[in-house]
Amino acid sequence: MAQEIWWASPSFWRKTAIWVTGFSFVVLIFLTFDTVDQITAGSKSGRVKAYSVINNRIDYVFDAERNMQVPVIGPEEPLFGKVLTEDEAKALVSMGKLTTQSKNCMNCHTLLGNGSYYAPDLTKSWLDQSWGSKEAREQSMVEFLMDPTDKLHNVLGRKMPNLGITEEEARATVAFLKWMSAIDTNGFPANFKPIDQSDPVAALVPTTVELAPEAGAEPTQQ
Ligand code: HEC
Repeated sequence: MAQEIWWASPSFWRKTAIWVTGFSFVVLIFLTFDTVDQITAGSKSGRVKAYSVINNRIDYVFDAERNMQVPVIGPEEPLFGKVLTEDEAKALVSMGKLTTQSKNCMNCHTLLGNGSYYAPDLTKSWLDQSWGSKEAREQSMVEFLMDPTDKLHNVLGRKMPNLGITEEEARATVAFLKWMSAIDTNGFPANFKPIDQSDPVAALVPTTVELAPEAGAEPTQQ
């Protein structure tokens, strides 16, 4: 009778299967805990900020090491001028999230990249330059959500239909959008240009401006 080769024996493959399954199981448990931490609001990974982040300015700066734009939480800048506790902020953001679900915004938009490509991604719409100024933004967003039909907000050339959103729902949706814009999404979506959020005081600091010489003006003798 021919000698059985060790790697061809059923017992070798049975043991291998048991070890591989066991090892994968342990890795999956580790990854599950790691992911839960990464996606929980206010967890220590810091990737998804606590709901009360809506009390602050949310800005983006370029991180040379990561080679991408990363969120920076700035000074206090409460939404609708009212500082909320963590619980109040959570209730408001949750209501906004429920509104986006019940009105099925994903039918046209993407949120964090999930959804449809008919309308712009909403992940950082809070920072979209199309809102004009940061002072007017909150009210513009509420008004836009309540009746977007007569507004052409950006260069898409498509209009958003009126979804019958109440003022309360619109305000909560704005809170949800502000909170979402603070999520560290590893640079997604790429190449977005945030709204100018510099303080008017900072803007008053004189800067050196290179003026083009007036057309036809004589060059000044030095
Ligand atoms: C039937 C398709 C459709 C649905 C559903 C829809 N939208 Fe829109 N939305 C659009 C289109 C199209 C635009 C671009 C409109 C424009 O440029 O004027 C838009 C623009 C926007 C903008 C401005 C985006 C930016 O930063 O430029 C926001 C914010 C927005 N939608 C939020 C929502 C929310 C929140 C919901 C769900 C409650 C929703 N939309 C549901 C089609 C839709």
